[in-house]
Amino acid sequence: MAFNSARVKPGGRCKQTPARRARLAAAANNLQIMTMKWIHWDKVLATGHLILDTDHEHLVDLFNQLATSVKERQGKIACAELLETIIQYAKRHFAFEEQLMADEHYPKIDYHAAEHFRLIKQAIRYKAKFEAGEPESHISLIHFPEDWLTFHILTADKELATFLSAAAEQPG
Ligand SMILES: [Fe+2]
Ligand SMILES: [Fe+2]
Repeated sequence: MAFNSARVKPGGRCKQTPARRARLAAAANNLQIMTMKWIHWDKVLATGHLILDTDHEHLVDLFNQLATSVKERQGKIACAELLETIIQYAKRHFAFEEQLMADEHYPKIDYHAAEHFRLIKQAIRYKAKFEAGEPESHISLIHFPEDWLTFHILTADKELATFLSAAAEQPG
């Protein structure tokens, strides 16, 4: 059947019933899930410190599992469990970094540790929102790793790794 442009009224408005609004919101959510990004591990994220990089790579892997689980709608419990695994792993990783900083008398330890504390608090908040079923919370859940993980690695962790590598080269 040929498309009859005369039947389409320019600027014509559809009636916004609650059911239609809900359908549009669901479609927008689906679109965001379909276009969500997985984090790809590459050398841009590498700090050059073997243990830090191994831990970060594992965190990236966990986040990608979470993204897959949200996209495949594997259920609230499975997603919440993965998020808890991420939080617990991140806590251990942060504690390890903080121990390294203390051992090497890293001058920015307080700032870096405060950032770890803030990141954990933020992740716990996301988890609570997700578990409470807040609208759009699954969307924030799959986008927060971009800020949460990549920004911290690219700034604070890379600076720490540079310091640790310089300290390792110092004689004595
Ligand atoms: Fe780190
Ligand atoms: Fe860190």
